[in-house]
Amino acid sequence: MKVKVGILSAGADCPGINSAIHWFVYSAMDRDLIPERGMIFDIIGIIDGWKGLIEVKPDKKDSLNKWTMKLTPEIVRTWDRYGGTRLGTTRINPFDPKNDKSDILIKNIKALGLDALVVIGGFDNLGVAYRLYRENINVVGIPKTIDKDLSETDYTLGFDSAVNIITKDIDRLRITAGSHSRIFIVESMGRKAGWLALEGGEASGANIILIPEHDFVIERVVELLKVRRKAGERYSIVLISEGAKPRGMEEIKERRGKDGFGHYYLGGVGGFLAEEIEKRTRLEVRYVALRHLQRGGAPTAYDRRMGRKFGIAAVDMIVNDDFGRMVSLKQGEIATVPLKKALEKLNLVDVEKYYNTKNYKSLDRIL
Ligand code: F6P
Repeated sequence: MKVKVGILSAGADCPGINSAIHWFVYSAMDRDLIPERGMIFDIIGIIDGWKGLIEVKPDKKDSLNKWTMKLTPEIVRTWDRYGGTRLGTTRINPFDPKNDKSDILIKNIKALGLDALVVIGGFDNLGVAYRLYRENINVVGIPKTIDKDLSETDYTLGFDSAVNIITKDIDRLRITAGSHSRIFIVESMGRKAGWLALEGGEASGANIILIPEHDFVIERVVELLKVRRKAGERYSIVLISEGAKPRGMEEIKERRGKDGFGHYYLGGVGGFLAEEIEKRTRLEVRYVALRHLQRGGAPTAYDRRMGRKFGIAAVDMIVNDDFGRMVSLKQGEIATVPLKKALEKLNLVDVEKYYNTKNYKSLDRIL
């Protein structure tokens, strides 16, 4: 039996996506497995995520060449070692109530003859995948987001690479912070979930970690910094999530407004905090926002490996008619979970379990 499968990445890019695509294609085309599976795969990469599926004119060759590409092992051979997404991506919500494009998208999926669609996405875009599933499209989800805020999986592609970038950048900042006896406020991504700051802070040994799940008190941050200075520490590193907020305040938003899913773009809380500390102390403070640097560069070994595992599992899911579900890592094992369940709530840091609300750092203890 021949199956035609579309694969796309949607929402923010991150390292590990290309690895998932590479291994999806390699596993689908594995000659040894074809007789066992009884399936011959024809894989179509969709360019720029949902945009490609909306814009494509399936009866026009030029348009097909622009918005789709046939994926073979020869084509994706080296993709696994590169960051970003070779298929491109966009932040478009096809179900946006103000600009609904879902009808045309579903029509195009059918006109392209896709028997299944693999969606590599985070919470919002797997949400789109789930809505398509409810419209009788055979979807399979692969979780990716550096925020690691998707439920029902212990891992989302991109997270480990981002934590490594945070760690290496903080290592660099320590050197100059120490030379000048300065405080560095480092702002990480992480809109609602503080995993990046928490785990990046643990890995790098940041002295203060501020996360969206627990509103901080500026005076307490100042107090902790003064205590360190009194104890003879030349410098301090404060790692703050972009979504963290001082008690009684809203998140600090960027001027760009909202994305297609109605979320404000965040950024700047680190700068705000730096100024507040300088106002209250004589300490010299500098602010660095890591922003999209955290999503750049090559995937770490772990992201390549997880991309591999997730990509191969997605082929198995198609073979087993396991649709409307997402690949997941659960307690070290690859599993599949219903998208519906994964989308019930965001995976946020459990403050009671993992965060020290007094000293603003991770709670390191045996549970
Ligand atoms: O959702 C992942 C993420 O990296 C967030 O941490 C961040 O707030 C957002 O994407 C940035 O989005 P963009 O790349 O569209 O600026």
